[in-house]
Parts: sequence; structure tokens; C-alpha cells
Amino acid sequence: MPDRTRAIKPLMPANTWFPFDPLLTDAQARGMLDLCERYGSYKMYSEEPTFEGIGQGLPARWDAARNFIRSGGRFGRSEDLHVLAARTNYFRETYAYGDEIRIDGIQPFLRHEGFVEAARRLHRRPVIVPAIVYANLLVPGQELAVHTDVPEFRGVSRKTHPQWLLVAMRHSRFFEDWRMPIATGVSWYHDSRGGEFAFYPDGPEAAPVALPVRFNTAVLLDTDTVFHGVDRVASEKGDVAPLEPGMRLAFAGAGEWCIVDGEREVARYRWDDLRFSISWKAYCFRDETERRLWSEHSDDLTVDVVVDRLVRDLRDKGKLGASLPEDRELVDVIIDEYIRYPAPASACVPAIGAAKVSSRAIR
Ligand SMILES: [Fe+2]
Repeated sequence: MPDRTRAIKPLMPANTWFPFDPLLTDAQARGMLDLCERYGSYKMYSEEPTFEGIGQGLPARWDAARNFIRSGGRFGRSEDLHVLAARTNYFRETYAYGDEIRIDGIQPFLRHEGFVEAARRLHRRPVIVPAIVYANLLVPGQELAVHTDVPEFRGVSRKTHPQWLLVAMRHSRFFEDWRMPIATGVSWYHDSRGGEFAFYPDGPEAAPVALPVRFNTAVLLDTDTVFHGVDRVASEKGDVAPLEPGMRLAFAGAGEWCIVDGEREVARYRWDDLRFSISWKAYCFRDETERRLWSEHSDDLTVDVVVDRLVRDLRDKGKLGASLPEDRELVDVIIDEYIRYPAPASACVPAIGAAKVSSRAIR
């Protein structure tokens, strides 16, 4: 295989984002809350799989978790490690994955025309293939650590390789010839207290923008490039329930939700206490030929090529010696070298100046 990793390309401009207000008709938007209740039970993100090989045993998003613990989140708060872990271990389930529909009623959202058109404009690529729809639920006191999303490369994806490694690959810029640009729409269906969607459209060194969570609104952007997170969801005393991995958030009827540990109820909330979002992701292909390269696996990258390239670069920069350090140390060297997080800050710019796109209801 020719060494195309030498041809480092600059990152594409990332500062385009498309707001939607409204995203759907009112009835359709309220239907999303019904759908969320019907799905019923949501597991914690920490249950995401990990893989054999480099970084074996580390959390899937070791990159973001490590930065969150070190920095105290977007506002640099200092807290006990156990509390920080509970704050960022939110609840998630997948509603659609490719053609696999996991709950009836999500099909029209998967094909939302406004999202598809915005995705075409975002990456200037005409062939849009919706890939996944998933829900995130945060309870009072939770927040989502600043991160970029898990990208995908031909041959190296989150289905087979560590998520933190994929993120480092994107930031290294060495593997752009294999990367599949993805557009992400994030949508909301109730008003939430706190839990703003904070993102850095002008790069990690510029001021972030914070969008409040409002009924029937959405934003579409390149979340594999743009750092983003969720600010803390309001809670009465600023605290968070004593969450432990393995707990679930389950609909309890009559507008109430429970965190359960097996049969034991840990906490109970009303809809208004929660922060609920549905995310949409789509592959953005240049043409059918590129789409075939992906589906037929005729130009796949391998993880050995990836690690070799990163190690070679780290040695060139004097960050690694001739002999490799122990596995976990190597992981941290990779993360620290390539993923440059925004510094904790408090200033946000108002949510104006975004690229405008006409919002369309599902048809
Ligand atoms: Fe994200």
C-alpha cells in the first residue's frame, strides 16, 4: 500500500453551522417525546464496547474523560473524581442504525430533508447517506465533557477499534484520504434548564457558542471537527445522583423517569428536569465511486498502518524513543500530542451569525 499518510492535508473550514427553528411541525416534535417514552429504558454511555489491542480496557472515550477529569470541564470546576465520573456518564440508546429501525416512528426523522440539504452544503458533497439516529438523556447535574465526535475511516471504525484512537486519527490529519466526512444534526423537543449545547465553531482557541435547549429546534454541524459539549443540567443543589456504571434511566409513566439499579430506584425525575436530544448522523460522499470504495472495502486502512504512522511521527518529534513505552502510556502520549482541547473558559458569544438554512418539516 502506498504511504499516503505523508500527504497531510489541512483541516477543512469548520465554522459552518446550520440552525433549525422549527425543525418539525409541533405535532411531530411532540411525537418525539412519545417515542422516547415508548423506547422506555436507556443505558449508560460507559457501557460502550472496548476492544483488544492498543489501549485495551480503557473507557471508549478515554480522550474526553481524561481531559474532563484534568480540566474540570468547560468551566474548570474542581470536584472529586467519582462525582465527575457520574456527571458525564449520561444515558443513550440508538433509534436507527443504517437501515435497521429500532423503534417505529423514527423513519421520517432519519430521512429529514432539511438535514440532508444542510449536510450537502456543510461538506459540499452531494451523496448523503443517513447512518445513525440516537438519543441522549442527561439527568440534573450531568454534563457532557467537551469533545469531538468519533469519526470514521474506511477500514477503521468504532465497530472494531477504540473510539479515542479514531478521534486522535482525525486530529492528527494523517488519514484524511480514508476519512468519511460526517454531518451531525442535534435536535431538542422540550425546554431544558441548563444543558446548553456549547460548541467552538471558530476553533478551540476562539470563544464558544452556547445554544439553549428549546422545543423543536436543532443545529447541524461537523461535530467530528468542531469541539462541543453539554453544559451542566440544572439541579437543585448543584449535585448529581449517585450514579454507578450499569444503572439505567427508565420511563416510569405519567411523565416521570427513574434511575434504576436493577430493581432498586435510585432517583426519580419529571420530564422538565431532564435534557433530551436526538442526534442524526449521515455520511457525506463526493460521488457513487467514493461510496462504493466504502461499501466494498476496496481501499481500507488497517490499524497497524495507523499506529505505525503515529509512532513514526512521535519519534520524529522526539516524543517517543526507540523502544515503545507501556501500552497505557503510549495511549496518553498519542492523545496529548494530537488532541488539543479548548481551555476551560466562561465566555460565550451569542448564537448569531450562523449559516442560514430554511427549516423544513418532515414530509
Ligand atoms: Fe458529541
